[in-house]
Amino acid sequence: MNTRLLREDQVDQAAAILRAGGLVGIPTETVYGLGANGLDGEAVSRIFQAKGRPQDNPLILHIPEASWLERYCQEVPPQAWALAEAFWPGPLTMILRHKPLVPRAVTAGLDTVGMRCPGHPVCRAILAAADVPVAAPSGNTSGRPSPTTARSMLEDMAGKIDAIVDGGSCSVGVESTIVDLTCTPPRLLRPGGVTLEQLRAVLGEVAVDPAVTRLMGAGEQPRAPGMKYRHYAPKAPVTVVTGEPEAAARYIAGAAAPGDGVICFDEFAPLFSGHITQLLGSAGDKGAQARHVFEALRAFDHTGVEAIWAQCPDSAGLGLAIANRLGKAAGFHIIHLEEGTP
Ligand code: TXA
Ligand code: MG
Repeated sequence: MNTRLLREDQVDQAAAILRAGGLVGIPTETVYGLGANGLDGEAVSRIFQAKGRPQDNPLILHIPEASWLERYCQEVPPQAWALAEAFWPGPLTMILRHKPLVPRAVTAGLDTVGMRCPGHPVCRAILAAADVPVAAPSGNTSGRPSPTTARSMLEDMAGKIDAIVDGGSCSVGVESTIVDLTCTPPRLLRPGGVTLEQLRAVLGEVAVDPAVTRLMGAGEQPRAPGMKYRHYAPKAPVTVVTGEPEAAARYIAGAAAPGDGVICFDEFAPLFSGHITQLLGSAGDKGAQARHVFEALRAFDHTGVEAIWAQCPDSAGLGLAIANRLGKAAGFHIIHLEEGTP
């Protein structure tokens, strides 16, 4: 199959492919998604083939406006409308109970479904033109870092899907925040562009699923099935170092072997002149760090580095999402420096 690269003004062609049961790479503000008509179980099952995705991992339905929630979900609670009002269109996915018309291929047999109304203008235009909910996981091969450019998505999906719409670089850079509204209190399943602090400002108490910050033990089941897989991983093993930025940079400079790759905050690059480095963004700019984290992880796969060291921000605000993606890339192999480490 020849994968066509469509321009962002070729929305009608993208919508026509989706309506005909094809697979289309769609830009969103978080990461690129691999879309299919979410009401067409056969089209949805081809997403799993193209990604090599385990069948037990459900997909998110993307809708053009919040009012569509009632078409696919039952018992939409007031909290869902409050979150939609505050954060949609935008990088937030809500887990709700679905109606019977949502295909099993989307839900992997769960009685819930993830719903998201994305903010990227090209994505919104595609959803409106297709006039169907679009099921879309991130557009990477399963296990690899999510793509934040059309070119990265093409790297993984060329020859496997019908088309990719190039909508430029993603402005958030990490996937949507997932909050489960079917339990009390609501539970954060995956941190993302809408922060935990922002969720709590609307919902009050919000629990944090343990899979956000650590590896699940044998017999433990995260509520988001996808959180149990090794993820976002470049080919070389990753070690994350947290702590005060300057101390962490010095620690890595002392510990890294000559051929190792380093992901560092911009201001510490001079410490790593002998290494292949990827800049995460400046230590104080978590927005930039979120935009760069996946491309930084991917970039090492084009080099021969045997190990990767990564600096990591604190967990406030967007830091929780960045630390989660770096932690998962490292299999949560994290060195926590104590305050005052020289
Ligand atoms: O930003 C995003 O959310 C991107 C863009 C394309 O919208 N999509 C995305 O999809 O990241 P995916 O499939 O790569 O990640 C979805 C996560 C998986 O961990 C999956 O297990 C979880 O959401 N999930 C989906 N449906 C669920 C459900 N009903 N209950 C719990 N977790 C669910
Ligand atoms: Mg994904």
